[in-house]
Amino acid sequence: MIRYLILAAITVAPSLAMAGDADRDAIIAGYAAEARAADPGFTVFSAAAGERLFRTKWASGDERTPSCTACHTDNPRNPGRNAKTGRPIDPVAVSVNPSRFTDAADVEKQFTRDCESVLGRPCTPREKGDYITFMSGQ
Ligand code: HEC
Repeated sequence: MIRYLILAAITVAPSLAMAGDADRDAIIAGYAAEARAADPGFTVFSAAAGERLFRTKWASGDERTPSCTACHTDNPRNPGRNAKTGRPIDPVAVSVNPSRFTDAADVEKQFTRDCESVLGRPCTPREKGDYITFMSGQ
């Protein structure tokens, strides 16, 4: 009995501690599979490309939101503010907000909404993976 309890503790404990990371890793893996399907030459996501996506003034979407920084600010570790509604937004950097990018449905919903607002088009799987990779290191 004791033996089983110890075994259970050993197998369950790490997965609880890593829950956020495992969910985020699964989301990134999903985008990697989509990116590879679109381009067989795809290898890994790039934090630098994610940062460019974040900071570029695209000016091809809603004029109130030329870039991601319009709402998420220049510093992902800072709280943001919605440029359309004025509502506060929690920081998007994983270091200060470890629950970021751990709910696949939320992540997809916001990418759809925010990329349309800023770029005037959907983000590609590669852009999404690059973005999360950048934010994971922030
Ligand atoms: C109009 C304001 C606004 C702009 C511009 C904006 N966002 Fe967001 N973003 C939000 C809001 C509001 C949320 C949802 C609230 C939250 O997650 O704190 C959010 C959340 C997200 C999330 C979900 C994060 C998670 O942990 O689930 C992603 C992904 C995201 N934004 C990506 C982007 C990208 C990429 C850009 C630029 C192309 C961008 N956002 C520009 C307002 C904005």
